[in-house]
Amino acid sequence: MSDNTASLNVGGNSYDYAVMDGSVGPQVIDVRKLYANTGMFTYDPGFTSTASCESGLTYIDGDEGVLLHRGYPIGQLAEQSSFMEVSYLLLNGELPSKQELDEFTHTITRHTMVHEQLTTFYRGFRRDAHPMAIMCGVVGALSAFYHDSTDINDPEQRKIASHRLIAKMPTIAAMAYKYSAGQPFVYPRNDLSYTANFLRMTFSVPAEEYIPDPVVVDAMDKIFILHADHEQNASTSTVRLAGSSGANPFACIAAGIACLWGPAHGGANEAALNMLHEIGTVDRIPEYIARAKNKDDPFRLMGFGHRVYKNYDPRATVMQKTAKDVLEKLGVDDPIFDVAKELEQIALNDPYFIEKKLYPNVDFYSGVILSAIGFPTEMFTVLFALARTVGWVAQWNEMISDPAQKIGRPRQLYTGPVQRDYVPVSAR
Ligand code: CMC
Repeated sequence: MSDNTASLNVGGNSYDYAVMDGSVGPQVIDVRKLYANTGMFTYDPGFTSTASCESGLTYIDGDEGVLLHRGYPIGQLAEQSSFMEVSYLLLNGELPSKQELDEFTHTITRHTMVHEQLTTFYRGFRRDAHPMAIMCGVVGALSAFYHDSTDINDPEQRKIASHRLIAKMPTIAAMAYKYSAGQPFVYPRNDLSYTANFLRMTFSVPAEEYIPDPVVVDAMDKIFILHADHEQNASTSTVRLAGSSGANPFACIAAGIACLWGPAHGGANEAALNMLHEIGTVDRIPEYIARAKNKDDPFRLMGFGHRVYKNYDPRATVMQKTAKDVLEKLGVDDPIFDVAKELEQIALNDPYFIEKKLYPNVDFYSGVILSAIGFPTEMFTVLFALARTVGWVAQWNEMISDPAQKIGRPRQLYTGPVQRDYVPVSAR
């Protein structure tokens, strides 16, 4: 707690509110007593100025383009760590020892299978269902399968549910892909790494084994790390809000998946690649830049801009380099990558984008990599959900363990009709 207080003058009275310090980043004014003191609420649609919780997981400095998980910079984690290690770090607060990492990896590996009955659940969906629709349904259904890990007040059950979610998400995601492709489901294999196993479950068919290329496995693992957590974004806040009522973890993560699907959030990677294909060639870029700047045109440059980053998204830096490595290794000469690089250069030098501090975000280059690996665009947001599951789970655990936790219940500025008497239909 800082020595500072913030004073508010309302109706001739002055009220002092404590100013709280984080370990780094903006201070916050503790307004919890505001309504009791003044009878007033604060108004902040979209939470642009509101800290909804205290958290020790992830720190973002949007002006400087900094992203830290438990203090470690995302660039270092993406280059030197692994998704399993980052998952442990997010869940437990510290990097694991070799033994702790081996045990954690072993536990996750041993939870990758799903209840066999769950496989029949898929058949209720149309084959052309969007895999995110399937993800919402199937992950929500997990609570009907794993009753022994839904007591949120038991730390051991919370741990098991967390491990189950992280472990089963690749299996569920790969099955969603297989179902839409009309191919048989592929069971997990315990001798493969988390990421190699996911790629094999996705791309292997009974007629032909898929041997994951180490460059592709490495790129996929980096993409998972880059998406693992991002503090109180829309889907994470959804998970926390759902969890604040005491809902079970599987239901909460399903709620997060539903929120992530939107094009302003996790759906942007799909939208960004679709946009790059629509632009098609470098000579058409100016037309789209002009559209993005036109107030009367709803078109936006997808993969550009961010609520928090007013600088280059540090995840986009890693993503651009990874895209180059993967395309080179796979020998893919994708003209869309050239369009992306040129579009980025033109936008970064355009006064509109400079003034509004609009830079490429994590989604700008991810689609180029994912399509080079072989994923259809509908799967992009599914991959985001797979990776973000660890962040959601870690944030959910943090919230449940927080003694200050309360059911989330925002207030409102009511602008509807004031009380009036009901008029029978015959008299209207
Ligand atoms: N293209 C053109 N103009 C833009 C863009 C864009 N991509 N993004 C923002 N602007 C303009 C916007 O029109 C507004 O202009 P003005 O002040 O004149 O009205 C100004 O910049 C501020 O935009 P905003 O919508 O008020 O900002 P926000 O913080 O509410 O929105 C955003 C952030 C990410 C939703 C938005 O930048 C956007 O729609 N970007 C495209 C979608 C996208 O790439 N989303 C992925 C985000 S990163 C991954 C994730 O978190 O899921």
